[in-house]
Formats: sequence, structure tokens, C-alpha cells
Amino acid sequence: MRRAVNDTIIAIDGPAGAGKSTLAKTLAARLGYLYIDTGAMYRALALKALRQRLPLDGAETLRRLARRTRVRLDRTARGTLRVRLDGRDVTRAIRRPAVTRAASVISQDAGVRAWMVRAQRQLGRRGRVVIEGRDTTTVVFPRARHRFYLDASLDARARRRMQDLRRAGVRASLRAVMEDVRRRDRRDRTRQASPLRRAPGAVRIETTRATRRQTLARLLRAIES
Ligand code: DC
Repeated sequence: MRRAVNDTIIAIDGPAGAGKSTLAKTLAARLGYLYIDTGAMYRALALKALRQRLPLDGAETLRRLARRTRVRLDRTARGTLRVRLDGRDVTRAIRRPAVTRAASVISQDAGVRAWMVRAQRQLGRRGRVVIEGRDTTTVVFPRARHRFYLDASLDARARRRMQDLRRAGVRASLRAVMEDVRRRDRRDRTRQASPLRRAPGAVRIETTRATRRQTLARLLRAIES
């Protein structure tokens, strides 16, 4: 019997550094599903706004920009994600600290979010997707059968961010990274337009002391049960 679309949508939300993207990527590869990194979409738009030197708090300008923008997420042969902005590969550029900050600012805007949600629903409309971000369980796919909320202590999340940055060749102190994560958390949790919160019914998974393998095993158990 063919499964209903909502049965094959796995949505994962949580704050920065909770381990969502690694987990979502591994899970998608394992199940043969499409991986949708919604943060990458906000980052791509933020990069475009920075390149065009647009005001990051200019709601109307940003909305117009979004309407003229194409973001594509493709899986490479190696199973990693390639992000294209208007046809150009921006996979690395969107991970720069300036883009991280800009994405956090532009994602506050309700018009930008509405555009993103529409694009994300379009990508996931046939199901068989693992989607992660801040509002995928509450707004984008609130009826998805499998919804998770990943969380970890601020300290653990800042350490993970720092490792990611190191791998990308960026040097930063733990204090600075922690402050940055704290600021982004505050914006994500207090914005008016779809703030980050655990959706009723989403399974909370604490990852502070768990290895990636343990977290993956917990998720798979929850999905299969
Ligand atoms: O997950 P990330 O760090 O790549 O996300 C980049 C920014 O985009 C982050 O500051 C929060 C925002 N974001 C959002 O508001 N909603 C989402 N669904 C995904 C990301």
C-alpha cells in the first residue's frame, strides 16, 4: 500500500548547534529521502542581500528580493548538499560568519518567511523528505507524521559550532561563538513571525551527552515504532 505524504515527511526543529543538520543528512541518506536544509535557504537569501548591500531590516526590499531569487538544494554524488543561488554554487559562501549573522536578521521578517515556507512546501509536496530548521514542525509541515525537537545545552551547542567553524577554516574563541549562538537563540525564540518552539506532539530529543550514532538510533526507533 502506498503511504500518505504526511507519513513520509520527517521534520526536525531545534536551536542552532543542536545537531539537526548532521542528523537530517544521515537520516535522509539512510532512507533514500530528500534532505531539505531550510537554514541554507535563509542563508542563500542573506548572502544575496549582503552582496547587493541591501538593508537587512528593509522588509519590502527583502520581500522583493526573495521574489526574484531561486534557491536550489541538490544532493551531490558524495551525498553532501549543494546549494545554488540563482544558478551559482554558494555552498561554502553561505557558511561564513557574516552570512550567519545576516540570515539570523532577515529570518525575522514575516514576508521573507512566507516566501520560504511556500518554497519548502513545494519541495516536500510529494513526501519522502527529511526537513530541518526552526519552524518545519510548527508551520511548514505541522501535519508531518514524524516530528522532532532536538535540543542541547548552550555550552554543547557552542562547542559544536566552533568545531564546524574550525573545519571551515574560521578561527573563533569559544566565548565569542557562545555569545553569537545566544544572540541567535534569542532572535529565533522571540521573533513574532513563527518563533522557535517545540510543537505540541513533537518528540523532544536531548543531544547534550549523546553521540551522533546514539541520536540517530533514537530517531530511527521513534520512526519505526
Ligand atoms: O540552521 P542555520 O544556522 O543554517 O539557520 C540560519 C538562520 O536561519 C538561523 O539564524 C535561523 C534561520 N532559520 C529560520 O529562521 N527558520 C528556519 N526554518 C531555518 C533557519
